[in-house]
Amino acid sequence: MSGTDGSQGSSPIVVILGRQGSGKGTQSDLIVAEYGFVHVSTGDMLRAAVAEQTELGRKAGELMDRGELVPDDIMCGIVADRLGRTDVVEHGVLLDGFPRTTPQADALESITADRGGIDVALNLDVPVDEVMRRMLDRGRSDDTVEAIERRLALYEEQTEPLLEWFAARDLLAVVDGVGNTDEVFGRVREVLEGVLARR
Ligand code: AP5
Ligand code: MG
Repeated sequence: MSGTDGSQGSSPIVVILGRQGSGKGTQSDLIVAEYGFVHVSTGDMLRAAVAEQTELGRKAGELMDRGELVPDDIMCGIVADRLGRTDVVEHGVLLDGFPRTTPQADALESITADRGGIDVALNLDVPVDEVMRRMLDRGRSDDTVEAIERRLALYEEQTEPLLEWFAARDLLAVVDGVGNTDEVFGRVREVLEGVLARR
């Protein structure tokens, strides 16, 4: 987490984690407005592919509507490619929705190894009943009760273990995600200021 490991001179690599509906996208908009990182949301990238009816979109759309995950090899390829682009290299990146599985986290670790590694993973902590309420109010096409239940089950099974993965590397910062958007952002900012000051 400091410049002594070679991160000085390279741009920040920040991950935002949290249950579906915990506010990752909402906080990401505020973070990029303040810090200028490039927002890389794998969910948004997949939804764009669905809208454009690309081959990836055709494969992913059906999985997403059922609340299933898109296979790791596809996701890791997309993210590796995106992180190699100039804007990310220059401004740093906020990864939203990736990694979501341990193989994805391992892939991210190797993709970022030669640029100082991951700086921090912010985990927005919001209880299940609250995220359910938020998603049902939002009404995205995959916000049906069945798909939400499947996504939350996959979260417990595949994504929650990542909290340990990040904690073991001293990269995890848990942020209370309950409260209004500005209150949550205040907590996020406090963590980021500390992390950026130590680079
Ligand atoms: P993705 O788009 O990442 O969806 P998700 O993980 O289900 O998360 P959400 O976007 O639903 O929630 P969010 O945390 O961003 O919350 P938001 O800010 O919107 O992924 C979609 C699908 O793509 C996956 O299911 C999978 O199929 C596939 N996929 C994506 N990445 C993948 C990967 N790496 N590997 C494999 N498959 C992948 O907030 C939710 C609502 O709450 C909003 O309405 C918001 O206005 C409201 N809200 C936000 N903050 C607050 C607050 N503080 N108080 C009250 N309401 C709030
Ligand atoms: Mg989102």
